[in-house]
Amino acid sequence: MYLGIDVGTSEVKAMLLNERHKVLALAGAPLEVSRPHPGHSEQDPYSWWAATCTALRQLRHLHPTEFKSVKAIGLSGQMHGAVLLDKSNRVLRPAILWNDTRSTRECEQMMAEMPQAAALAGSLIMPGFTAPKLRWVARHEPEVFDQVVKVLLPKDYIRLMLTGEHITDVSDASGTGWLDVAQRTWSPDLLKLSGLDLSHMPQLVEGNAPAGRILPYVATDLGLPAGLTVAGGAGDNASSAVGMGAVQAGDGFLSLGTSGVVFLVSPRFAPQVASATHAFCHAVPGQWHQMSVMLSAASCLQWAKHSLGAASESELENRASQLHADDRAAAPLFLPYLGGERTPHNQANLRASFHGIGHGTSQATMAYSVFEGVTFGLLDGLAALRQGDSEVRRLSLVGGGARSAMWAQQLASALNVEIVTHQESTAGGALGAARLAWMAHGGTLADVCVQPAVAQSYHPNDAERAMLLPRYARFKALYAALQTVRSVI
Ligand code: XUL
Repeated sequence: MYLGIDVGTSEVKAMLLNERHKVLALAGAPLEVSRPHPGHSEQDPYSWWAATCTALRQLRHLHPTEFKSVKAIGLSGQMHGAVLLDKSNRVLRPAILWNDTRSTRECEQMMAEMPQAAALAGSLIMPGFTAPKLRWVARHEPEVFDQVVKVLLPKDYIRLMLTGEHITDVSDASGTGWLDVAQRTWSPDLLKLSGLDLSHMPQLVEGNAPAGRILPYVATDLGLPAGLTVAGGAGDNASSAVGMGAVQAGDGFLSLGTSGVVFLVSPRFAPQVASATHAFCHAVPGQWHQMSVMLSAASCLQWAKHSLGAASESELENRASQLHADDRAAAPLFLPYLGGERTPHNQANLRASFHGIGHGTSQATMAYSVFEGVTFGLLDGLAALRQGDSEVRRLSLVGGGARSAMWAQQLASALNVEIVTHQESTAGGALGAARLAWMAHGGTLADVCVQPAVAQSYHPNDAERAMLLPRYARFKALYAALQTVRSVI
């Protein structure tokens, strides 16, 4: 039995997985994001730990016998977040999250001071990465910066609470902007740009390597066996890839979580920084990946639910999917940039808009526009990845958005690839974490990283594609036109 914990943005999920690849149980505890200023996005690291304990207690309650026989724990988590610790491991300020865009100016300064930084780090240094956040803190909160002794990523704060150790893995470390991604080691030159050095960094391991043991009093408190190994784990995207069995070149997935990601495994480090994509280490040794990241995917639906007055996201989906094809073709266009965008625009100050609202526009058509706008953002992402040598025919769908059949079909038609869902799709990060635990306990890549059974398969539909492509052309033209407006106001 293996335990996987995924520290998401809206929820902590915990999963029990057995050695026959059966997910025995999945538990979750919600998280809130605080946005104290426009562009800021923060969480209290202690809320991650409290939610983790709640989710673990649920699992223990559901399966007391299996919980006691867990052999190893794996961790997955939202990437890039900065957890600042003092010399007593005290958290110095709320964690600054992956979708926080306050550090635009710091990114520009860093890229100007070290133009080769992008080639080393596998990506342009973007707001949201950990490195510019530390530079922002140095400038705006010097009294905090002076006390920083260690910087951890979100899932590694959970490791600290479980084991007392400062350790991270290379896939998650790739999102800091401090890693020499080709060499899979910290780069003193990149660290220097943030006023930090190697002493501020946790130890680095591969995702499937042992990385700490549970502290005796924590094991007793949680009801877990003493001395359990905690695996290196992974950033949530690399972890989802492990969960979906995407560990060989050419494999990939598409994630519809709070963020929207297209992820492709790559046998070598091949950055394409000009297209605002990321080239990062994978969670298994000797592999890398390319990914496009949009900042607001399922979070656009959450916004639409509140703003359009729907009871739930699935109510929005029902209304949108019942629309006649003609109404879809006449729906407004939605640019999904609620909190800026990374791929392909790398523009933190970009904001969302609807275009083409008419007398006939209803809640249902606007809901449809939101789904479609996110789909077009992901198509932009795939197009940015395809500027390299990526060949993509089939993508697994993961994240909460995988529950929507309408969305899956629309994605297949727009991206012109087969989209498949799996029973485990909505908990890919936690599944990957449990699998990394299994490998840290001796499981082999071949035995552990198999593809879960396909639940549904969606193929491009010619009629839908013929409707979507001209709308996608207008979506791109609209973005370009709005740049002119932005430069005027
Ligand atoms: C990846 C990214 C997001 C977060 C969300 O670069 O920022 O996908 O990992 O959890």
